[in-house]
Amino acid sequence: RAEIRGSHFGLGIRCLTTLGHFGFECLPTQLVNKSIQKGFSFNILCVGETGIGKSTLINTLFNTNLKENKSSHFYSKVGLKVKTYELLERNIPLKLTVVKTVGYGDQINKEASYQPVVDYLDAQFEAYLQEELKIKRSLADYHDSRIHVCLYFITPTGHSLKSLDLLTMKNIDRRVNIIPLIAKADSLSKNDLQRFKNNIMSELNSNGIQIYQFPADDEATAQANSSGLLPFAVVGSMEEVKVGKRMVRGRHYPWGVLQVENENHCDFVKLRDLLLCTNMEDLKDQTHSQHYECYRTSRLQKLGFSDMGPDNQPVSAQSYTDVINVLVSTPPHIEIRGVATQNIGDFQEMYEAKRQEFHNQCQREEEELKQTFMQRVKEKELTFKDAEKELQDKFEHLKRIQQEEILKLEEERRKLEEQIIDFYKMKAASESAQAQVCTNLKKD
Ligand code: GTP
Repeated sequence: RAEIRGSHFGLGIRCLTTLGHFGFECLPTQLVNKSIQKGFSFNILCVGETGIGKSTLINTLFNTNLKENKSSHFYSKVGLKVKTYELLERNIPLKLTVVKTVGYGDQINKEASYQPVVDYLDAQFEAYLQEELKIKRSLADYHDSRIHVCLYFITPTGHSLKSLDLLTMKNIDRRVNIIPLIAKADSLSKNDLQRFKNNIMSELNSNGIQIYQFPADDEATAQANSSGLLPFAVVGSMEEVKVGKRMVRGRHYPWGVLQVENENHCDFVKLRDLLLCTNMEDLKDQTHSQHYECYRTSRLQKLGFSDMGPDNQPVSAQSYTDVINVLVSTPPHIEIRGVATQNIGDFQEMYEAKRQEFHNQCQREEEELKQTFMQRVKEKELTFKDAEKELQDKFEHLKRIQQEEILKLEEERRKLEEQIIDFYKMKAASESAQAQVCTNLKKD
């Protein structure tokens, strides 16, 4: 179908514009359809003190009541609660995994409070790496549990960051995209809030903590990075409150209503837009291309891999994964799927164990081959011996028959010779008798 747009330069040439979609211009539609069919997944880590408002904010962000029990303040160490939800928004499926700290900031000695978080992040990278290293990998169906974003809930003290905040963020900033949030921001006045934001940002900078940089593609995101918006001052609530004639989500106070989705009241809408509408894909990309890549490189380097070959030349364009695949695929019988077992924590140890296992298996097979070979040689020797004996017997038999024949012939010859002698004797006798007769006759 085409639309006639009028004459061209008045020459009567019609300019036609296509109305339908043809050719490869449909490529984006294909991608959209495929992605919708496959569904989306997003993994969020919420780090913050007990009762700081983590669950409420997640509920508010996804406008869903994800049932959660309150955590106790009496855990002896920090833990993590992992829950996966299947959400649907206008037929767009989202597999959302929320990981929340439990007991964070509740211990007297907070020195190792960040460690479970670090361990969890690394464990997800390790699981992905193990999947990548399998011979038969199924990354398309793999449930990728790597954390795409860490919402770090800062307690609204109005002063500065606590040493626990700095320590944790310092230890996870190379592993995850950190978005700092001032939780329960409704407890700070406008001036205090701005001052608090400035203090936090200068503390993060002076401690060299890398937080997620929103891609500065458009004005809003550029503003989020540069202006005083970060860290986002958020307020969460699933409560419906009446404001004038409208029902809004907010928190009702004796002095009025704080509207969660009012940009003059808090940064919730900006956070939701930047996190879910604009940058969800970028967060996932950064997780893979920056944080996971960093983990993978250091992991493979620890295993002794290098991009330089023995001649100190780069090892072609092959990735580490390909090198590993070549190496690990050399043993033909080893089931690499087993590599992913959770029990073997350390990859190097596991790799060595697999190599040893392969070596032992080779030796066993070589031994078995030797045994089989010897057995078959013995069997062949026996067969040959039997055949030789049979031949010998046949030969002996024929020889005996031949000798018997020779003897028989010899006997016959002897008999014939005797008969000839007898014959000559008789002949001679006859001849002499005949001569005697003739002589007698002549005499007579
Ligand atoms: P745990 O999972 O138990 O550690 O708690 P949490 O961090 O998930 O906190 P939760 O969302 O359960 O909120 C704890 C309390 O804080 C609840 O009473 C919430 O109503 C309240 N709360 C949550 N968000 C806000 C907020 O933005 N401002 C204020 N003032 N209170 C909030």
